[in-house]
Amino acid sequence: MPESFEQIKKDYEFTEKDAKRIIKLKPYMEKYLNDFINDFYKFVFRLPNAKKFLKDEETINRHKNKIKEWYMELFSGNYDDKYFEKLHRIGEVHDKLGIPTHYINASFNFIRRWFIKKINQEFGYSRERNLYVESLGKLLDMNLDIMTKAYIEEEITKFLELSKLERKLIKISRKFADFLDMVLLAALIIMAIFTIGLFGYDVFELVAGHVSIEKGIITTLGSLLILWAVAELMAEEIKHLQGGKFAITAFVSVALAAVIRKILIVSLSPEDIEKIVAYGGVLLVLGIVYYLLKTKESV
Ligand code: HEM
Repeated sequence: MPESFEQIKKDYEFTEKDAKRIIKLKPYMEKYLNDFINDFYKFVFRLPNAKKFLKDEETINRHKNKIKEWYMELFSGNYDDKYFEKLHRIGEVHDKLGIPTHYINASFNFIRRWFIKKINQEFGYSRERNLYVESLGKLLDMNLDIMTKAYIEEEITKFLELSKLERKLIKISRKFADFLDMVLLAALIIMAIFTIGLFGYDVFELVAGHVSIEKGIITTLGSLLILWAVAELMAEEIKHLQGGKFAITAFVSVALAAVIRKILIVSLSPEDIEKIVAYGGVLLVLGIVYYLLKTKESV
């Protein structure tokens, strides 16, 4: 449980005056409830994996009712321990469902911009408008603070429940995993340099007339394809180093590029028909694996 909610209100300089101002805002904002629901879900479903969490009509409808309740309570003017405990529980529910904190932060950013637009519409650019924006801003920030605090506490509790040895092992394995990531990135840089070399060599062979124009162009295109796939792999690894998820499809796309390159080269000699069929089979299997992984990623 967080420190005293009263202290949180003090930290945000949220006073009785702010609460009273928000109550005055209530009748102005109540009438926008349905607009809010429409705009909020338009925003939420632009988040890449929102459908994974709000997965069917039933869940969406349940969520809509909960959001309506949250919206109305925001303007209740009653910000006691019960109000904040509820926000804390909402944070815990989202954490247990695995909803990224980033989604909650982005949602609150959207909500703040949305409210400011409506307040501007109602009050124009006046001193009154500034005071409403200030008070509601403090309240939204406290909402976000408490909801995301629940996430952090959940992580800390999980960590504290472990024995000393387990915690040490986790720390060591994290450091080792970071080290392996760096090794992987270094290896990818070396591979990219070699692939640039291969591309340069193919261009040289073509320009110097060591190979036929047809073979030269096809081989160069093949190495360009590999270079593109290695670049994709590096971009994924960098994303992973920055805390994102690693898309395994990047590895499959390298294999796809390598097989396509082989097919391009082999297709130049008609006597290698068996090889082409074999590579075609591999390409089909890789294509299916790539498709299945991509569909799973986007669910
Ligand atoms: C400002 C942002 C949000 C607010 C105020 C909010 C509010 C709530 C509330 C009040 C609940 C019910 C908690 C309980 O059962 O005690 C809930 C549940 C849930 N929320 Fe949110 N939510 C927000 C953002 C999101 C986002 C961005 C997602 C997903 C992309 C999401 C997905 C869910 C899901 C899946 C549930 C469980 C629904 C169920 O099965 O009943 N929420 N949310």
